[in-house]
Amino acid sequence: MSRGWRIDQLPEHIGAQVRVTGWVTHVRSSGKVRFFLVRDGTGELQVVARAGDGGDPLLSQIAALTQETAVAVGGLVQADPRSPGGVELRATELSIIGSSDAYPLSPKEHGIDFLMDHRHLWVRSSRQAAALRIRARIAHAIRAFLDDAGFVLADPPILTPAAAEGTTSLFGVDYFGDPAFLSQSGQLYLEALAMSLGRVYSFGPTFRAEKSKTRRHLMEFWMVEPEIAFCDFEENLEWQERLVSYVVADVLAHRSGDLAVLERDTAALERIEPPFPRISYDEAIERLRAAGFATKWGDDFGSPEETALAGMFDRPVFVHRFPAHQKAFYMQPDPARPEVALAADLLAPEGYGEIVGGSQRIHDRDLLRARLAEHGLDPATYSWYLDLRRYGSVPHSGFGLGLERLVAWIAGLEHVRETIPFPRTLSRVWP
Ligand code: 4AD
Ligand code: MG
Repeated sequence: MSRGWRIDQLPEHIGAQVRVTGWVTHVRSSGKVRFFLVRDGTGELQVVARAGDGGDPLLSQIAALTQETAVAVGGLVQADPRSPGGVELRATELSIIGSSDAYPLSPKEHGIDFLMDHRHLWVRSSRQAAALRIRARIAHAIRAFLDDAGFVLADPPILTPAAAEGTTSLFGVDYFGDPAFLSQSGQLYLEALAMSLGRVYSFGPTFRAEKSKTRRHLMEFWMVEPEIAFCDFEENLEWQERLVSYVVADVLAHRSGDLAVLERDTAALERIEPPFPRISYDEAIERLRAAGFATKWGDDFGSPEETALAGMFDRPVFVHRFPAHQKAFYMQPDPARPEVALAADLLAPEGYGEIVGGSQRIHDRDLLRARLAEHGLDPATYSWYLDLRRYGSVPHSGFGLGLERLVAWIAGLEHVRETIPFPRTLSRVWP
């Protein structure tokens, strides 16, 4: 099979004779002219044929095309300002590569369960493909930012012997007779690696057996986790706001067409730049009470509280210094106020909630031991982690950014299930 051209390259080849391969999305005719749309993953192309171009066999071939037929079509690239990409293809030959009979996802509306049952086909729709291209670009931008800033990509294990983020959301695995768990976070390992490499990050799948059925929760999601040696709490926030702003600007620069397919209001993204506002947990409580919530000091914020707080700002907002008892065992208490942790959540605007969680880590061995005990965790299980505090321990900080929540916010998608190719939710592990 000869190599085809990519649809997104065609605007640079007006007047050329080309061959395009892809899938038919739509067929129509008007008088003696037949049209169809073909997509190839890079774009959508209008193909036209007139009686006389390639003879009537071509017209009847086109008339018989069905949705999702795979085709190779040869013809002449012509400028056409009304078409997507500004070009159309005047067809001279057409061959069918793969037929498609009674494609189940017609352009009409389908319910979400039907679409999710057909996720293997739904990914072909223009909106889903746009979301997946945006996801890929965001992943690229995250890596580009961190690589350029001297972070070393280091890959922590996925099969782990102990909890990193609380014992209630672990997925257990039978490890040749011993219990093991799918990773909830690579953080503890990244702390070890930061003591070798200085600045490190991981970017990979993360697992939480959370009984949460919300538009923000997946059982399997992707997290990027930077970890930085000799980094205090404030510097950690600066890395976060710079990373998030870089990613937003990169997507605006490189995926504007896909954002348009998703009808994303990009004005809300254009104002994203550092610094992001910072409010303490205490101030957040005051603001929530003033807004009519009955939240008390010590309470966890749910999604209504997060949405209300984020709605008070036009860019992401850090909420910092949470009550230590709410948070993970490894978080450094504020020396000025030990009842709060040097931890911050970054809340996205427009109701998307927490996209980043981060903190300064405890670097004192005795304090870490005490915190493990308070959390009912066995110090023996964490002996290697305690070792990091024994040999050249230094203040260090890091954070975890949830890729799907970031994609949902940037792309303006209602639910994280459309931000990942095959979502794993409370009720679904199929297809
Ligand atoms: O706040 P979390 O639980 O933080 C940690 O796991 C730290 N160990 C990270 C670190 O400091 N290295 O999770 C971090 C982010 C959240 O802010 C959220 O964006 C995402 O991961 N996240 C989820 N995304 C989708 N579905 C879930 N069930 C998620 N749980 C967390
Ligand atoms: Mg969190």
